[in-house]
Amino acid sequence: MDRAQALLRIEELSGEISKHNYQYYVLSRPLVSDYQFDLMLDELISLEKEYPEFRFPGSPTLHVGGGITKEFRQVVHKYPMMSLGNTYSVQDVNDFEERIHKLIGEDIEYVCELKFDGVAIGLTYRDGRLVQAVTRGDGIQGDDVTLNVETIRSIPLKLQGAGYPAEFEIRGEIILPHSSFEALNLQKEEEGEEPFANPRNAASGSLKMQDSAEVAKRKLDCFLYYLQGDSLPFPTHYESLQAARKWGFKVSDFIVKCKTIDDIFDYIDTWDTARKELPFDIDGVVIKVNSFAQQEQLGFTAKSPRWAIAYKFKAEEASTQLLSVDFQVGRTGTVTPVANLRPVLLAGTVVKRATLHNADVIAALDVRYGDTIFVEKGGEIIPKITAVDLSLRPENSKPLEFPTVCPECGSPLVRNEGEAAWFCPNETACPPQIKGKLEHFICRKAMNIDSLGEGKIEILFDNGLVHSPADLYELNFEKLIGLEKAYKGEGDKKDRIVKFRDKTVINILKGIEASKTVPFDRVLFALGIRYVGETVAKKLARHFGSFDKLRMAEPAELTDVEEIGGKIAQSLLSWMQMLPNIELVENLRKHGVQMAFTGLHNILKSNSLEGMSFVVSGVFEGVSRDEIKKTIEEHGGKNVSSVSARTSFLLAGTGMGPEKRRKAETLGVKMISLDEFYKMIEV
Ligand code: IVH
Repeated sequence: MDRAQALLRIEELSGEISKHNYQYYVLSRPLVSDYQFDLMLDELISLEKEYPEFRFPGSPTLHVGGGITKEFRQVVHKYPMMSLGNTYSVQDVNDFEERIHKLIGEDIEYVCELKFDGVAIGLTYRDGRLVQAVTRGDGIQGDDVTLNVETIRSIPLKLQGAGYPAEFEIRGEIILPHSSFEALNLQKEEEGEEPFANPRNAASGSLKMQDSAEVAKRKLDCFLYYLQGDSLPFPTHYESLQAARKWGFKVSDFIVKCKTIDDIFDYIDTWDTARKELPFDIDGVVIKVNSFAQQEQLGFTAKSPRWAIAYKFKAEEASTQLLSVDFQVGRTGTVTPVANLRPVLLAGTVVKRATLHNADVIAALDVRYGDTIFVEKGGEIIPKITAVDLSLRPENSKPLEFPTVCPECGSPLVRNEGEAAWFCPNETACPPQIKGKLEHFICRKAMNIDSLGEGKIEILFDNGLVHSPADLYELNFEKLIGLEKAYKGEGDKKDRIVKFRDKTVINILKGIEASKTVPFDRVLFALGIRYVGETVAKKLARHFGSFDKLRMAEPAELTDVEEIGGKIAQSLLSWMQMLPNIELVENLRKHGVQMAFTGLHNILKSNSLEGMSFVVSGVFEGVSRDEIKKTIEEHGGKNVSSVSARTSFLLAGTGMGPEKRRKAETLGVKMISLDEFYKMIEV
């Protein structure tokens, strides 16, 4: 294929893929199979790699992500991002309608819409291209999350059709559909991480991730509901949304025009029930005046428009008695109060337990033993206690006190400044923490010793055979054979006995032996260091290459690694200083567990960068900084974190800090672009 043909093919594929994205993610009417789609996308990705100069600014390969945002830039909204007046009361909706009638005094048309329960976003388009995505923030300024938003496949990067203003902003809600939310939480649990409480939190957390390739995996979605601009080409909100749909935006199908208050209440009633069938969360409906001229007449209060109101659905609620409270200690030592309740039917299931979150929540609710309380099942998976029915409070009731010592090991609990949770600091001797850490160590994403799953760790622990992960490597056939434990079934689960017979023991020993080949990044994750999840472990392992190098790192070297902030660095440093942890690492190493990358990872691709040192700064299209740094090392070069007279090159990306540039200029360090860098390693 020559250059001209490549350009044509890139153009053709970009158009086709954008069209199929629209068909699949916006209209839910795919025209090709997933396989065919993936083939086209792969072809475009490799053509763009070969001919980066032909990549279109709105290329659909942006949806794949890869760009990193170290810190989200604050952007002032061109139009303040207001919220809506919220109400749970039918009377307020009546008052809203009456007030508007009085003020406008003519026939008014309303538009009723779903109120999506997600994260508000403002998307700016210039000449049909997405140029910026900003969160609400405080309404005046928000975070620039463009790189992450570009990965959402239902958001058009380039508009289709005609008639859109040269520049406009469209606002909407980024949501995580139930199916993606469940998959994400399952994955989190498998990795031994805390699951998200609800899809809204998950969507919000996803938008704040630094690696957009990770955001792309979350499968976020986005509904648009409000067009903003100085001269919109339509007289009504309804028409503007219909046009937006034609330009490629995902606009809900459930938008209706209403003439009377009865129509409005019909819509509310319908969705109060029908929402349970939707594949995503809504928390109410929004009622808006349709005509832009009338909207203008009505104007805004200080906080919200007078032409719209949000009616929120009441979460399903029940009242029952608080019987007792368990204080559960998790893997990282966090103590969570969980209430045991007199069983009550709520939203189709029997609820026996509800979370009380933390000491602050208990204090704010002023819950006491024996209280009758209200439980609510909103978007959360675990029901929560929302209030106490004071009229039913027994006399002389005793306040519910948060323990001052760990309910499992008796250590005094501690609380970090600015955090709501109390935790047990005795991480090396507190039983649930030890068991939790062992469970984490063997999990699939860590050492992957699945022959030790399903309660077997507990048996080993109860029999005093393992205390630290390194003890696993001391196990042998004689120690394991014949161990057993009976488990009582709960709910649908039957009673069962787990017994270690020949085959079980052989499998366990094989699994432990195989774990010695698990690469260093997963070993680092397996250690269960606070805030060092799978991604962080990967970044650290790639950057330092071995535990010894990581151990020698200065705090500033740690925070120089992408995604590593002060909190993670602090947690790592204090973990690595603790004697039991030093011993753990040494013992694991002694048993042959990988404490460094070996083999393949050390092979140099060339030595074309030998003797050169690089500072990589800013954001690069299509490749993360860590990938570039890895390439530098693979070709014999060295990465340094700050510009000095000895630095050979400053590899400058978009948004590079002005100080770095100034320093490079003063010291005469040559600045190069990514293309120039690639030329240096061409062999
Ligand atoms: S219209 C000027 N329409 O709910 C106000 N908002 O509590 C424009 N929301 O701030 C907002 N669904 O984040 C509008 N169909 C919808 C919505 C919606 C969800 C969010 C939005 C808003 C908040 C109000």
